[in-house]
Amino acid sequence: MSRYILPASVFGTVFGCAVLLKNHLTGGTCPSKAKIPGKTVVITGANAGIGKETARELARRGGRIIMGCRDMEKCETAAREIRGSTLNPHVYARHIDLASIKSIRSFAEKINQEEERVDILINNAAVMRCPPGKTEDGFDMQFGVNYLGHFLLTNLLLDKLKDSAPSRVINLSSLAHIIGEIDFDDLNWDRKKFNTKKAYCQSKLAIILFTRELARRLEGTGVTVYALHPGVVATELGRHTGMHQSQFSSTVLSPIFYLLIKSPELGAQPSVYLAVAEELASVSGRYYDVMKEKEPAPQALDQEVAVRLWDISASLVGLETTVSVPSPSPETVTQVLPEQTRTHPSEPAAAMTTV
Ligand SMILES: NC(=O)c1ccc[n+]([C@@H]2O[C@H](COP(=O)([O-])OP(=O)(O)OC[C@H]3O[C@@H](n4cnc5c(N)ncnc54)[C@H](OP(=O)(O)O)[C@@H]3O)[C@@H](O)[C@H]2O)c1
Repeated sequence: MSRYILPASVFGTVFGCAVLLKNHLTGGTCPSKAKIPGKTVVITGANAGIGKETARELARRGGRIIMGCRDMEKCETAAREIRGSTLNPHVYARHIDLASIKSIRSFAEKINQEEERVDILINNAAVMRCPPGKTEDGFDMQFGVNYLGHFLLTNLLLDKLKDSAPSRVINLSSLAHIIGEIDFDDLNWDRKKFNTKKAYCQSKLAIILFTRELARRLEGTGVTVYALHPGVVATELGRHTGMHQSQFSSTVLSPIFYLLIKSPELGAQPSVYLAVAEELASVSGRYYDVMKEKEPAPQALDQEVAVRLWDISASLVGLETTVSVPSPSPETVTQVLPEQTRTHPSEPAAAMTTV
């Protein structure tokens, strides 16, 4: 029996230290104390996890918060709770389903009509490793919700963001992008065997490529763009993974895992940092690992892939560009024209006209 005492106490000490130090080791809190009265924040997936805590912290700092969620009951409940805990009455629940172009357009239209300004757009919502499935418009669920939906939303809010400059766009990516690949022959997993892990990684890589290309196109406009890995955070993101699907892992492993990883409150700090930090005002197109700028994986730095992905994405979601931007050049800024119709994502947007 005594031979187990030493290893057990070493394990207990290491585990205890890890739990106690985790907040420090996982990045800590946003160093900026900046308040944001008079600023409007739009945040997707704000009823749960990182999004909800980001909304709460930015409400606490005095912002006008528009929470975009697909489930209005959850959204209203979260908005009410945030209003109560921050005593900020300007927290609003709005419907957006990122798996539907129609819903994204209607959300953006309301924002453009009803809001005087959009200072901070946080593209936060995501699904991870879900079973095979398509969005309403036929896109792979993870590529469609995590990336294409936010690509469209951002483009539809660009004029408002430019009018509100200096303004910021924050795109939630993930460290998972490092094993991502953009498969231009089959972006939506229509032909090859579906791999849910790879689909998530592709969507998160696409977000960094989008961030970099958007920043390039927005040079000189006062709108800055950032991509972010928030760290490993105890949220509902893993609901489709093994951790939540077997009795053993959800009752035994999951509580230990949750003790070791950071809370949604801490997980929200990097998004808050990118939204408010004064020193980032003139920085754009960069990737942050928690609150530190970092170089993303090499495939996220490929300019040609970023431009190609932009053009294909614009075509898939029914946007057209007035000026093609084949190579980096600050003079060539792309503008987005109104909706074009298309029946299936694999169809080229033949009906579109170039102005
Ligand atoms: N947690 C982590 O460790 C971690 C690590 C790296 C990156 N991230 C990134 O951080 C972001 C936030 O994730 P989280 O951990 O907070 O996850 P979460 O708790 O699962 O929250 C995801 C949010 O996205 C919403 N959402 C999902 N599909 C949607 C759709 N079709 N339309 C509108 N909203 C939709 C969810 O709404 P419902 O409640 O209705 O499902 C929920 O509000 C994600 O982009 C994720 O990829 C998280």
